[in-house]
Amino acid sequence: MDRIDKLLASTGRWTRREAKQLIQEGRVLVDGVPAAAPEQKADPVSACVAVDGKPLSFQKYTYVMLNKPEGVVSATEDTCQQTVLDLLPPELRRRGLFPVGRLDKDSEGLLLLTNDGDLAHRLLSPKKHVDKVYYIRTDRPLTPEDQEAFASGVNLADGTVCLPAGLELLGRGDEAFVTLHEGKFHQIKRMIASRGAAVCQLKRLSMGTLVLDSSLKKGEYRLLTPEEVLKIGGNG
Ligand code: URA
Repeated sequence: MDRIDKLLASTGRWTRREAKQLIQEGRVLVDGVPAAAPEQKADPVSACVAVDGKPLSFQKYTYVMLNKPEGVVSATEDTCQQTVLDLLPPELRRRGLFPVGRLDKDSEGLLLLTNDGDLAHRLLSPKKHVDKVYYIRTDRPLTPEDQEAFASGVNLADGTVCLPAGLELLGRGDEAFVTLHEGKFHQIKRMIASRGAAVCQLKRLSMGTLVLDSSLKKGEYRLLTPEEVLKIGGNG
């Protein structure tokens, strides 16, 4: 059971203060009866809570797919740079979302934002080996030797050994799909650097079962569908 004002605020549509105001104005019905006070409790699963006659549904967690553009940092706040949270509207920003894993400032593509800490932990845990697929463009064509090096585990400049990774060459070889089963800092850039090349463009396409929606333009977002939440193991 939760307080009504808290439940209303959890939708992200109203602040706690606005929710109290709605209750005081008699605009909130709980099972057809006007809520008496903000402290009144209701069961978010079984109670029918309506505002101005429109029933609300309370989801415990929120899952947002963002097509991250370059130039934005994968953080919840930053004193001088634009963050991925700044790309969301206030009602979503109020929900305590954070990015699941990072994309570099100059990387783009799929970023999942959620307030479901358990799911984030499961997706990022090295033990779970959740595949991440990226499109890259490099400053020179990659070769079958580079593919073999990726397949057997690249040695980074600092001595770190990466898990075997997929490298599927496209076109003339200066484009490729990279599949990682782990997530080290600047991993792809460092793997490519260890092969004597440089990454010019990097875009994440998928993370486990979650695939970037091709209809999302750079900087656009949408909520995950219930099916996507289920498949990725969320608690929608
Ligand atoms: N690897 C990188 O080097 N950068 C990213 O943003 C993601 C993977």
